[in-house]
Amino acid sequence: MMKKIVGSALSALVAAAMLVPSGAMANTDAKNISDTPPRDLLENVVYEKDYWEFLLENHPIFQYEKEGRVVGKIHLSDRQEEFIDFRDADKYAERHPELERAAVTYRLGKETFLDFPNKYVGPKTCGECHPAQYEKWTRSRHANTVRFPDEMIEIEKFGLKDLNSPMFPEVGPASILPEGVDAKSVYAIIGTPRTKYGFLDSYLVRGTYHVRDGLLSEGTGTIVAGTNQFSRGWAESITPEVAKKIAEYVDGFPTTIDDFNAIGGRGSNVWGVTSYGSNNEEKLMFQPASSYCEVCHTMKFNFASSEEFFDALGDAKKLQEATIARGISCEECHGAGGHMVDGNGGGMPSNCERCHQRFVWNEAAQEADERNPFNSYFKSACPSCGTEGSQMYFSAHYEKGMRCSTCHDPHEVTKNDWTSDVTYTNQKKACKDCHEVQGEFFANSGKGHQAGGCRGCHMPNMGSCENFAEIQFPDQGGFDNVRASHIWNIKVDKDAKTLNPPEGAPRTPGKGWTIARDDENRGYLDLMWSCGRTAFADASLLDGNGCHSPVQSKLPKSLHFKNQEEVYGKVVKWQSPVKEGYQHVRDTVKKIDRAIGKSKLSNSEKAQVLGLARKAREIADKVEKDGAWGAHGARYTQGLINEAVIYADEAAALMKL
Ligand code: HEC
Ligand code: HEC
Ligand code: HEC
Ligand code: HEC
Ligand code: HEC
Ligand code: HEC
Ligand code: HEC
Repeated sequence: MMKKIVGSALSALVAAAMLVPSGAMANTDAKNISDTPPRDLLENVVYEKDYWEFLLENHPIFQYEKEGRVVGKIHLSDRQEEFIDFRDADKYAERHPELERAAVTYRLGKETFLDFPNKYVGPKTCGECHPAQYEKWTRSRHANTVRFPDEMIEIEKFGLKDLNSPMFPEVGPASILPEGVDAKSVYAIIGTPRTKYGFLDSYLVRGTYHVRDGLLSEGTGTIVAGTNQFSRGWAESITPEVAKKIAEYVDGFPTTIDDFNAIGGRGSNVWGVTSYGSNNEEKLMFQPASSYCEVCHTMKFNFASSEEFFDALGDAKKLQEATIARGISCEECHGAGGHMVDGNGGGMPSNCERCHQRFVWNEAAQEADERNPFNSYFKSACPSCGTEGSQMYFSAHYEKGMRCSTCHDPHEVTKNDWTSDVTYTNQKKACKDCHEVQGEFFANSGKGHQAGGCRGCHMPNMGSCENFAEIQFPDQGGFDNVRASHIWNIKVDKDAKTLNPPEGAPRTPGKGWTIARDDENRGYLDLMWSCGRTAFADASLLDGNGCHSPVQSKLPKSLHFKNQEEVYGKVVKWQSPVKEGYQHVRDTVKKIDRAIGKSKLSNSEKAQVLGLARKAREIADKVEKDGAWGAHGARYTQGLINEAVIYADEAAALMKL
């Protein structure tokens, strides 16, 4: 397997020498990116080579391997594989013969942590002159997504002995760091108590394994593929008891660890800990952060040269001390050094989509719609985390020119306590600032619906941060939904489904699912997601008494929706009488319009008719503008329509129609 990486990196090097003009090639020698033109995709790949050579020689996993102390095959994964070969990107490039290659799923930052010296000054320096932005940023998960082991507030908050002790002991042994991976061997932990945790070891390689009967920092025990990633939803909420409750109405939902292992083919040894980047006990990925994690969960060091960097690798403390910026720091968005003397930034060299817009191309999507061959990236049966941008790309909001920071405050991306298990964001604009009519209807809806806000129905949690097919049952709206969807458009239909398996594949947990689009090429939410989902980290659902989830709902049993047909029945019950009344008003007013010119009524009688007809029309216009036909407040909407019917009928009666 060692051949693969060396082979691919070397072949990339050769290709680079042949394809890239020699001026640009200088990039791979000079390690100061600021003095050279930007690197292109291939140069980015090649740039990793020295670091790989160092790792292949020095990383302890290869010592373990030599001594027969690794359970599972080691798969080497470099930038070539992740950025260029990934998910048929090479086949996509063939669609445009002028492209040599393409990175469909990833956008790469201008700088990476391999650039020395870089021009980063760090967020504290920016904060000295921009305290207002700094203040907001520090309380965000952007600021806290990459933390050193000694900064883990979880220890105090959850009363843990250390990072290897169970976080929810009542449920099981699931811990922040997996078995045998002790804090000393870790550079940083990625994640907050919100969703899950990943770790980067002291060589900045991601952890895709646990250590049996030993400690990573001491080089003892056996490295075993998998059971490496704590997952809060599973560890805390989908306890074996809850799993049994779900299995009562969801065929095939796993209730024991053995069931779980039988479904996905990836397995795990611990309830609440998934195998990520690995197959339990069978295969693990050896992947430095430079090939993947750092694209979005970034870090920068203030070493003067690559030599200093290589010298510190393997020593977590040295790397931590040399860290000048991490997480989504000011300079990831505003450019290294910002506008400061000699800085690279000043403007906005990177937008949100760099990390929040993962596309995927596949042949089937292209065949289905030649002009729109992309969909959101799925790891399994739910759209992945970080795909807000690719969901939004196919929305009315995007078409009308809205972007992430139309709604979001880019600095205060987390408004509530970042150590909490849910997310509220600081919104520069609320839905009703633009949707005034819907806002008015909604303000007159039931208290239950109001509690969840517009987001409750229009932005259900749907995104998954895992490769977690085992507990993803999209037709039942669950059960690994940790991020708000950015699709908004609800389709009222008995059968249409938002998430669909590849053509011909069964609707059971699996891979390669996509988001369906309607006749206008927009994504849509089906009614099961909108109303009946089960999502343990969905703020609007928790605020709204569990909405209609059969597992979480605190409403009467008759309002627990187990399938889409049931939801559709309820919605149609609201909508049908509203639509009938609306149609009646339109028809009647049209008749009056036609007849009024030839009418023999006196002017005063005509004025009365026209006044009534206008009132009826205004109400009909408003109900049409709202567009929810009762879903934004059934009684209020029906009341308005009833009023309009009276006006229209009275006008018609005066006309003797
Ligand atoms: C020594 C004080 C100082 C430091 C340090 C500083 N800034 Fe500024 N920044 C300013 C001033 C003053 C302005 C207004 C500049 C102007 O109007 O020309 C500004 C403006 C900005 C703007 C707005 C630009 C615009 O067009 O309005 C951004 C964004 C910004 N700074 C980001 C940063 C970032 C990121 C850092 C850290 C890399 C940083 N600043 C460090 C003083 C500073
Ligand atoms: C393409 C960008 C991207 C890459 C690459 C990426 N992530 Fe993420 N990750 C995100 C985004 C964005 C989120 C936040 C969820 C969202 O926006 O939907 C996230 C969420 C997470 C979370 C949950 C954080 C929390 O506080 O709940 C963890 C943990 C995490 N990622 C770890 C990793 C690790 C480890 C790697 C490398 C193996 C990685 N990610 C690679 C973009 C990325
Ligand atoms: C996630 C990307 C992102 C990060 C991280 C970020 N900014 Fe910004 N910043 C923006 C965007 C986008 C704007 C443009 C204003 C807007 O759209 O609201 C902006 C605007 C600014 C401005 C102009 C004044 C204003 O508030 O609009 C300053 C100053 C600034 N940022 C400083 C900082 C500092 C200091 C940090 C770090 C503590 C930081 N930014 C972190 C994206 C970011
Ligand atoms: C360099 C990569 C990167 C960029 C650029 C970026 N983000 Fe993020 N964003 C992330 C990651 C990673 C997370 C997950 C952090 C976590 O939960 O640990 C995240 C989380 C978030 C969250 C959820 C916060 C929470 O508390 O759960 C919001 C909202 C968000 N980003 C909005 C934005 C917006 C708006 C922009 C552009 C102005 C932006 N992001 C730019 C990587 C990025
Ligand atoms: C129309 C307004 C709007 C737009 C545009 C928008 N968002 Fe959001 N976003 C929201 C709302 C509302 C929430 C729910 C959070 C809340 O209740 O505070 C949210 C939540 C999020 C979250 C947290 C998800 C979670 O549940 O943990 C992320 C990450 C995020 N948005 C990123 C983005 C990115 C990236 C873009 C641009 C591609 C974007 N958003 C565009 C309104 C918007
Ligand atoms: C900055 C203004 C703005 C904000 C904020 C905004 N919208 Fe919109 N929204 C629009 C526009 C413009 C359209 C396009 C249709 C139209 O012109 O009415 C639209 C369309 C929609 C649609 C119809 C989608 C479709 O495909 O037909 C829905 C649903 C929607 N918005 C929901 C929301 C929700 C929920 C929020 C809050 C999270 C929100 N909007 C925030 C401006 C906005
Ligand atoms: C109880 C669930 C629910 C809530 C809460 C809700 N909506 Fe809706 N909304 C719907 C449904 C269902 C539809 C689609 C009706 C249809 O197409 O038949 C809809 C449609 C819409 C549309 C599209 C109208 C059109 O002409 O296509 C917009 C815009 C919208 N909602 C905005 C909002 C806003 C803004 C809020 C909060 C003030 C909100 N909604 C709250 C269920 C909801």
